[in-house]
Amino acid sequence: MSFVKLQTPIPGPQSQALMQRRQAAVPRGPYNSTPVFVEKAEGALLMDVDGNTFIDFAGGIGTMNLGHCNARVAAAIAEQAHKFTHTCYHVTAYEPYIALAEKLNALTPGNFAKKTMLANSGVEAVENAIKIARYATGRSGVIAFEHAFHGRTLMGMSLTSKVKPYKYGFGPMASDIYRLPYPYEYRWRHDHRPIDWAAEYESLFAEFFASHVAADKIAALIIEPVLGEGGFVPAPAAALEKMAEICKRHGIVFIADEVQTGFCRTGKFFAIAWTSVAPDIVVMAKSIASGLPLSAITGRAELMDAPHEGGLGGTYGGNPIACQAALATLAEMERLNLNQFALEIGEYTRDYFHRLAVESPFIGEVRGIGAMNALELVQDKGSKVPYQDAAKRIQQHACQLGLISLTAGTYSNILRTLMPLSIPREQLAEGLAIMEKAILSLAP
Ligand SMILES: Cc1ncc(COP(=O)(O)O)c(C=O)c1O
Repeated sequence: MSFVKLQTPIPGPQSQALMQRRQAAVPRGPYNSTPVFVEKAEGALLMDVDGNTFIDFAGGIGTMNLGHCNARVAAAIAEQAHKFTHTCYHVTAYEPYIALAEKLNALTPGNFAKKTMLANSGVEAVENAIKIARYATGRSGVIAFEHAFHGRTLMGMSLTSKVKPYKYGFGPMASDIYRLPYPYEYRWRHDHRPIDWAAEYESLFAEFFASHVAADKIAALIIEPVLGEGGFVPAPAAALEKMAEICKRHGIVFIADEVQTGFCRTGKFFAIAWTSVAPDIVVMAKSIASGLPLSAITGRAELMDAPHEGGLGGTYGGNPIACQAALATLAEMERLNLNQFALEIGEYTRDYFHRLAVESPFIGEVRGIGAMNALELVQDKGSKVPYQDAAKRIQQHACQLGLISLTAGTYSNILRTLMPLSIPREQLAEGLAIMEKAILSLAP
């Protein structure tokens, strides 16, 4: 039995008509990676306005880890919508905000007193984390990494690495941001194995503090424990642990950006939990509330309390419906043991990819952790030259065949998987078979 059901060529006539209206009414900046307009979604399936059913390997860019339209989350949203939808937390507060803060204080790694504030989007969480770190330390410098993605506001794009499309033409960038190489094993400049990550970063930081900026001018280091938009590269635990140690040595706030890695994607609630690092601040968004706009900043209580009263906040941050969606989402993740799902579908996917890598001359590396997996496409396996735009061609071909998928990478040569973790095995297998077909039909 096939889950994909295509009644029309893709895009169908209704999607095409909507795309024409979209082109007339909406600027091109907010892009669309598929030509499809959605009517309905359930679990890991998307139904479009032409009656076509797709398997979803994008999950709203990692936002639907629990799956589309979970019944308990939908009920929690509806119940709160009938009570009150907004009062502004800063004017008249409400219990769901506090309950969610308590939950995240308990869930994030680190055996110390924590506090949480809520915002609307991933980048807003990043912005607030930097503001808090700067205020608490009285310093302004921020260390970010090559291939990083932290969002699209002024601070977000300044911390982001990839130039096009994120930064190009939007300057000047925010100041006092410094960039170090990400521990990207496949593309690490020394081609020897094994790499001593602790030694590499000890010397990189020593050189950096001597030749770029003094350690006591750095407020924060922000890092994705697994690169998201940068290509699903897991940072080795030894590298993250060394960075955390250096931060501690110099009073630098260690910020883990768990916006894409969070909430069971890697088989733990947070990817940093695969290491011994307890970040000073964790930023979260995406799957926290099954698609409702919500983000969170959780950190050491003394850091979070540093900025003065009224220094942080916003009209919508911690909206009550979004808080209830988050509480229901987290309860479902725990009830279902979604981490176990992630480990199982992740292993299945990686095994599939490894078999595929033997057949395809273009798959340079298969990598991932839990259900955060990727294929890096290269022109040939020896030179490792990125096969630019191959991922996009595969993604578009897969869409014609009924699979919604996503690309990634500074050179746009990576295919990544962000399917809902609750995806049934038969749907996963069918989606992977479509991906295989699209990859194997790729010409040089
Ligand atoms: C690691 C990371 N940080 C921050 C962001 C920005 O989140 P948002 O798009 O909700 O602002 C993203 C979005 O993809 C992300 O992957």
